[in-house]
Amino acid sequence: MLRTSKAQELYDKTSKFYNPRYRRIQFNKYNIALNDQILDGDILDLGSGTGLLSEFLGRQIHQVDISKGMLLFGKGRRVQADIENLPFKTDRFDYVLSFSALMNAENPEGAIKEVKRVLKPEGIFIVTYLKSFDFSDTLKRYFKLIDMRSCGEDVCFILKN
Ligand SMILES: C[S@@+](CC[C@H](N)C(=O)[O-])C[C@H]1O[C@@H](n2cnc3c(N)ncnc32)[C@H](O)[C@@H]1O
Repeated sequence: MLRTSKAQELYDKTSKFYNPRYRRIQFNKYNIALNDQILDGDILDLGSGTGLLSEFLGRQIHQVDISKGMLLFGKGRRVQADIENLPFKTDRFDYVLSFSALMNAENPEGAIKEVKRVLKPEGIFIVTYLKSFDFSDTLKRYFKLIDMRSCGEDVCFILKN
């Protein structure tokens, strides 16, 4: 059973206001992070929230979030789970994308290790998080750095497995 976390409680409460408040801000991040990506193959969105990324891409992707309230606003393949314990087999995805969620994990390194596990060899991990956090050393310990860019209030890393 999923333990109730602070993030889950917080996002369950704010889910109703999330899209009007953050759609434009998050779409701007997706544009900056993904404008040069082909994104073919299976995609996992970690900390998917209300499914704005799926809406932006105009396609079905696998979505994981800890907040049922946020997931209820989405469409398609949604699973309530903790990004530190993913219900997917090893080497499953071509891309793992995660926007503005990693800094909410209780153990960010645990989440990064889970991404490594579910990503195919040579798979791509694109992650953003608030600039006031710094997971760069941990990310570079597990993945090859391809690019790093400023994404509004977030920093964005493009990494290869
Ligand atoms: C700022 S929102 C970003 C949502 C979405 N990625 C977007 O671009 O709009 C952060 C999301 O991360 C989720 N989250 C926080 N901690 C999590 C965890 N440990 N496991 C799964 N999801 C988590 C929250 O429930 C919330 O939906």
